[in-house]
Amino acid sequence: MKKLDNKVVLITGGTSGIGEATALLCAEHGAKVLLLGRNQEKGASIVKLIEDVGGKAKFFACDVGSLEEIHRVTEIIDREFAVVDVLINSAGIAPGGTIETLSYELWDEIFNVNVRGTFAFCKWVVPKMRAHGQGNIINVASTCGSVGANGLHGYSSSKGAVTLLTKSMAADYSKENIRVNCLSPGATLTPMMDELGAEGLQEFAKMIPAQRMANPEEIAKVALFLASDDSSFIFGANIMADGGFTAI
Ligand SMILES: NC(=O)c1ccc[n+]([C@@H]2O[C@H](COP(=O)([O-])OP(=O)(O)OC[C@H]3O[C@@H](n4cnc5c(N)ncnc54)[C@H](OP(=O)(O)O)[C@@H]3O)[C@@H](O)[C@H]2O)c1
Repeated sequence: MKKLDNKVVLITGGTSGIGEATALLCAEHGAKVLLLGRNQEKGASIVKLIEDVGGKAKFFACDVGSLEEIHRVTEIIDREFAVVDVLINSAGIAPGGTIETLSYELWDEIFNVNVRGTFAFCKWVVPKMRAHGQGNIINVASTCGSVGANGLHGYSSSKGAVTLLTKSMAADYSKENIRVNCLSPGATLTPMMDELGAEGLQEFAKMIPAQRMANPEEIAKVALFLASDDSSFIFGANIMADGGFTAI
């Protein structure tokens, strides 16, 4: 018996980085994975990777910054899947900027994708999980949601909101056997970090007690732990996987 046998796991942002690694690992552990993202080509290639080794996956194109798109896709998923056992909200964007340099438009975009998208998928899935008698939600936040981040005022604010949305949901839904937890990665080598460049990445690594960044596969293992019954008594937690970044 694998850790996620017969479980339907929906992953937003399943087309890249942490979401992609989590999709591959969950499928390896027996889950039927529903991947969401905008990049259809990438989505199709990940589904093929999973199916080629006997796993189960399906891709749904969806811009999580658009409520219309979310409603359209969740209606399709409702028709096809009575149950979603695990929701992993991994879609996110991290544009830089301070309160002086961020435009209102970019602030809204960050919040629409990172916060409202997470809120909308949670809002949709909670009644579905309640009807099923159990559920498991993992919101991917960030260390930037718990400590300040230079030059990332919009991003860190959005991840702070995701962190406390998670804890507030846990306060209400734990008694209904719906586990809601945050996974807060530290710096992880995904396309999100590409703009730092090789030198920037090296400099960043020096600020981390572990002196390196995570690989997405290391963060995916934490997601698998939270998605599986191995974490059955973890409710409303914010699990840091950050090489010690927030320890100092
Ligand atoms: N990498 C890090 O150092 C780090 C650290 C802490 C937290 N995180 C968090 O981890 C999560 C995953 O990030 P990552 O590092 O894996 O980044 P990534 O490789 O850039 O992946 C981001 C994912 O989000 C999706 N996405 C972005 N905007 C979207 C939109 N409007 N609609 C639908 N999907 C959208 C992308 O899909 P499409 O391109 O297909 O739309 C992609 O699958 C994010 O929430 C991020 O904030 C990352």
